[in-house]
Amino acid sequence: MVGISELPSDARRLQGKVALITGGARGVGACMAKLFYKHGAKVVIVDIRDELGQALCDEIGHESSSSYLHCDVTKEIDVENAINFTIAKYGKLDIMVNNAVIAGEAKTSILDNDVAEFEQVVGVNLTGPFIGTKHAARVMIPNKRGSIIMVGSVCSSVGGIAPHAYTSSKHEVAALAPIAARGPGPRAPGEPPMFVRFSVNCLSPYFIANAFAKEHFKLDDEGCSKVYSNLKGVVLQEEDAAEAAVYLASDESKYVSGHNLAVDGGFTTINPIFGLFA
Ligand SMILES: NC(=O)c1ccc[n+]([C@@H]2O[C@H](COP(=O)([O-])OP(=O)(O)OC[C@H]3O[C@@H](n4cnc5c(N)ncnc54)[C@H](O)[C@@H]3O)[C@@H](O)[C@H]2O)c1
Repeated sequence: MVGISELPSDARRLQGKVALITGGARGVGACMAKLFYKHGAKVVIVDIRDELGQALCDEIGHESSSSYLHCDVTKEIDVENAINFTIAKYGKLDIMVNNAVIAGEAKTSILDNDVAEFEQVVGVNLTGPFIGTKHAARVMIPNKRGSIIMVGSVCSSVGGIAPHAYTSSKHEVAALAPIAARGPGPRAPGEPPMFVRFSVNCLSPYFIANAFAKEHFKLDDEGCSKVYSNLKGVVLQEEDAAEAAVYLASDESKYVSGHNLAVDGGFTTINPIFGLFA
């Protein structure tokens, strides 16, 4: 069967690992699924866009190494089933990526936002990662290892870019990483750690001109090309976020935990307005 090729064995950074990616049917999650596969991982893609998710598995093209499953991340039973499916099919879960997202309508004034819409966005973007982290941690305990990745955003650190619910949920999902990184189960002072490797990190990209961003900001290609970038002539791609996810998922980052890794060219940390070094 023709499909995506794996990298040469000495270049594979996720060899033998099993990953579950929520919202993996398109965009950043789909890009991660393909890159994780190339690096030797088996990937379980879950989403509510069933046709796209199945098509992605077909594109990867190796039935024994990739699976698609319908899963609404706001429903605990769906997430529990997806994790149980992963264990039944692949025997373990090494990497959980909480990536699924909705943006909500782009309303700039809080007065135009209503509670039901706010809760819907927070349900997918924050409650979803909470449920995903809970059930991933449950099955990572017997294996004594695991890496959980929250997908945050530039909106995890700054306001004024996206609507209230999206920005709030992205701040909170970055905050969930350090508390979840403490690990599951009680650990009294002096009690030895139970994991060989356990990390929960957040990965926060800047604007990526993909379907999600174009739909949300109502931008065409020309509009996207005018979006501010800190780096001259360099445009952030889905692949850049996926490469950062490979790092957080791999054993190269085994001592990195509770961290928010910004992939934003310094946008959230450099404010040149004061102009001291102008
Ligand atoms: N595109 C950007 O500019 C950008 C920038 C920073 C961060 N991000 C983050 O990257 C991640 C991926 O975003 P993207 O740009 O690929 O968006 P996308 O819309 O292309 O992908 C998100 C996926 O989540 C799925 N999804 C939505 N609700 C779901 C639910 N209830 N259950 C399961 N799946 C659901 C969608 O069907 C979709 O396939 C998000 O966490 C987003 O916040 C994106």
